[in-house]
Amino acid sequence: MLEVKDLAVAFGSIAPLSGVTFSLAKGETLGIVGESGSGKSLTAMSIMGLLPMSDGRVTSGSIVFDGQELTTLNESDYCKLRGGRIGLITQNPMTSLDPLKKIGTQVDAVAILHLGMAKKKARANTVDILHTLRIPEPALICERYPHQMSGGMKQRIVIAMALAADPDLLIADEPTTALDVTVQAQIIRLLDDLVKQRGLALLLITHDMSVVAQTCDRVVVMYAGRAIEQGPVLDIFDNPQHPYTQALVGCIPRDLKDGEKLTSIPGTVPTVLNYPEGCKFHPRCTRAQNICTTVQPELDRNGDSAVACHFAGASI
Ligand SMILES: Nc1ncnc2c1ncn2[C@@H]1O[C@H](COP(=O)(O)OP(=O)(O)OP(=O)(O)O)[C@@H](O)[C@H]1O
Ligand SMILES: [Mg+2]
Repeated sequence: MLEVKDLAVAFGSIAPLSGVTFSLAKGETLGIVGESGSGKSLTAMSIMGLLPMSDGRVTSGSIVFDGQELTTLNESDYCKLRGGRIGLITQNPMTSLDPLKKIGTQVDAVAILHLGMAKKKARANTVDILHTLRIPEPALICERYPHQMSGGMKQRIVIAMALAADPDLLIADEPTTALDVTVQAQIIRLLDDLVKQRGLALLLITHDMSVVAQTCDRVVVMYAGRAIEQGPVLDIFDNPQHPYTQALVGCIPRDLKDGEKLTSIPGTVPTVLNYPEGCKFHPRCTRAQNICTTVQPELDRNGDSAVACHFAGASI
């Protein structure tokens, strides 16, 4: 369904993303994890064709969605895809919802635009989707405005908009960060159910390894703008190969607190302005040798898994 190969993104002379490779099959949930600034959102924005137009651009690599190359797609074709075959759910519902329009009108508009539905049919579609999302009294909710709803409800409406045109792929970029813990769990469960019911593919971007463990089939670990390890979730958790992944998995708190971030590894993620030579993780790596300071390790594939490390596997 989605195949991202060796993707690189630059803003002028700054190159925050490179060597991002992964694929996602129909009916599958793929997690993207990594510390803040590791390039998760840039990856999502590249797929959606939403890099800031002024200077952000894909400099190499390819993104193929259902047989179609996206990196060379023109804006009008992208408009059909976005919100149509690919639904996007962002972190803050208020960036997706118009405060001045009724909920129903906003969700209806997606099906009217992308599926050419008549108004009445679109409303029936909206009510149906709100019902699926376990929103009580959907017809009534359609008449409300965003400010009349709780954060969790607003995020459900954003999910409804992402679903309204019956997409094949959902991209959720930290869909629960703005919500409190119990609501977070509900939304994640909802997304999980949707994938199963509708056979959607879901790209789930998160800081939270416990969410990955609960919901994802496979996971991509990002570090400093690169995909450094990926594989089936069980393999990654049981037998991580990259020292960074080993550290991540090793520091999953047993009782994860609200909004807790993956910052328990000594040192900080380098920013794009001071990416080190060679392997970008080497300054924080307990296993680094000379080669790591000069040669960028490539992703080495092994069946469904891949890792980019000169000394993959050896445990810490
Ligand atoms: N418009 C931009 N111009 C220049 N650099 C940018 C721009 N947008 C993002 N970056 C850089 O790209 C890198 C990756 O950013 P990105 O937003 O993808 O991180 P992230 O993994 O989503 O982090 P977070 O978990 O905080 O959301 C960062 O170093 C950031 O500074
Ligand atoms: Mg982000």
